[in-house]
Amino acid sequence: MKKTRKKTRKDLVTLSDCSTAEIQSWFDLALKIKGERKAGKTHRHLAGKNLAMIFQKPSTRTRVSFEMGMRQLGGHGMYLSGNDMQLGRGETIADTARVLSRYVDGIMARVFAHSDIEALAKYAAVPVINGLSDYSHPCQGLADYLTVLEHKGKLKGLTLAYVGDGNNVAHSLMFGGAKLGVNVVCVVPKGYEPDAKVLAQSSDDARKNRARIEVTNELSGVLGADVIYTDVWASMGQEKEHEERVRIFKPYQVNAALMAMTGKSDTLFMHCLPAHRGEEVTDEVVDSADSVVFDQAENRLHAQKAVLVSLMAD
Ligand code: CP
Ligand code: NVA
Repeated sequence: MKKTRKKTRKDLVTLSDCSTAEIQSWFDLALKIKGERKAGKTHRHLAGKNLAMIFQKPSTRTRVSFEMGMRQLGGHGMYLSGNDMQLGRGETIADTARVLSRYVDGIMARVFAHSDIEALAKYAAVPVINGLSDYSHPCQGLADYLTVLEHKGKLKGLTLAYVGDGNNVAHSLMFGGAKLGVNVVCVVPKGYEPDAKVLAQSSDDARKNRARIEVTNELSGVLGADVIYTDVWASMGQEKEHEERVRIFKPYQVNAALMAMTGKSDTLFMHCLPAHRGEEVTDEVVDSADSVVFDQAENRLHAQKAVLVSLMAD
């Protein structure tokens, strides 16, 4: 068999693979394109380019923001449901990656196993973007830190307290915070800590950027936080554990009392959405003036457009 064509461009698999300069350049480009578009300018950076978008799980934000992002850049995004592909009937990820590479200029995928994203990246000749795996959600992390930057005017030296499940979103906030000099404190119930490897790796990166990554089971960990962030208690694929998790996570609900525990009056509330109102966050907090959840959702579009341009434009 002929060898797979060599890839000349990189992928976005996790934020730990990216340099600080690269992330900052994506923020600069995202803000530039965002401002220009709001001023009425149209963009053609990806004219004639096509992105395959594989979804093994449901999505609102990721699907729409990638599809609109491609369109706004003059290109096209093609939705592919994992179940309707031969992938769902046993065609390997490697073969899927090789075949799609003959048709499209980039692949975005939302998968269960992170190893599927790694395999796509390994075998595709075109750039691969992780649209969420069980291990990480880098596009979310980028949009989130872009949102903090817009609201706080800086990132370095700030503290983000992530409260809840040490999941894929927590991992990306740890990886991203470490690169950007943001202190990240994960406040999680015993047994639901983030992956030890993620903690070790992000702590290493954080040290280089004079930040710290911490994990605690104590709610007092939110003291001094500039941002309180939470996510669902049961992620996609964990539906069977939902009831048990609600019981365990209840003390970690982000409510007005927990927001007050930061001791700061200007703490932002963040959530990647979708929110399970009344579980991980109360209506009062998610609908408050401190909440920037819809700015985060909007910034998925702008941050991803910067990534798409940097990975796919000629
Ligand atoms: N935050 C996020 O990824 O949302 P979707 O599941 O709707 O894509
Ligand atoms: N942790 C959540 C994020 C959804 C955007 C999940 O994986 O379901």
